[in-house]
Amino acid sequence: MNGVEALTCSVEELLDFLKSRRSIRRFKSEKPPLDLVLKVLDVARFAPSAKNSQPWEFIIVDDPNVKEKLARIHVGARPLENAPMAIVVVSDKTRSPTSYLVDGANAVMYILLALHAVGLGGVWIQTLRNIKEIQEILSIPEEKIPVAIIALGYPDESPKPKPRRPLEELVHYNKYGARKPLI
Ligand SMILES: Cc1cc2nc3c(=O)[nH]c(=O)nc-3n(C[C@H](O)[C@H](O)[C@H](O)COP(=O)(O)O)c2cc1C
Repeated sequence: MNGVEALTCSVEELLDFLKSRRSIRRFKSEKPPLDLVLKVLDVARFAPSAKNSQPWEFIIVDDPNVKEKLARIHVGARPLENAPMAIVVVSDKTRSPTSYLVDGANAVMYILLALHAVGLGGVWIQTLRNIKEIQEILSIPEEKIPVAIIALGYPDESPKPKPRRPLEELVHYNKYGARKPLI
């Protein structure tokens, strides 16, 4: 099946869907069913990784005591306080020594988009200044680096889009600083 042919929505609708994802930080108290969360993680397996190393693993956290510890790692982790669930994405340095961070980030993005697709919401919680602390809270082996915590649940807010830098400011042609295409 060709990706575009398999779509039941138009390409424009799919692109709009990608643009409509937001970070969700307020959640309803209802816990998402495990089946649905596993469906989302199944999608994350298809993220690209260097040499197809797939260095990621996922820790589903729904124990309120564990979640509370994670919510205290820094002020930006507070969305975990009202999220019924979290997914900690770890990436194994030994499986992808050069690219474990970017590989892990790819899996995180697939999860955030898949959450959005199934009607859940999530926010990426920074982990990279608190690696040891998170490893201790969750008994994660040293070589498996927590690249993100995703606080998730059913959205209880509809945030406006955050401002985005204009495309013209981001695109260069053939060399950095050249703003016009050749043709
Ligand atoms: C690497 C990374 C770290 C982030 N850390 C946090 C965080 O610790 N707490 C938080 O509330 N949001 C965090 N975010 C979410 C960003 O604030 C959010 O993606 C950004 O403001 C754009 O908003 P949007 O996701 O709604 O488009 C993080 C995002 C990324 C990619």
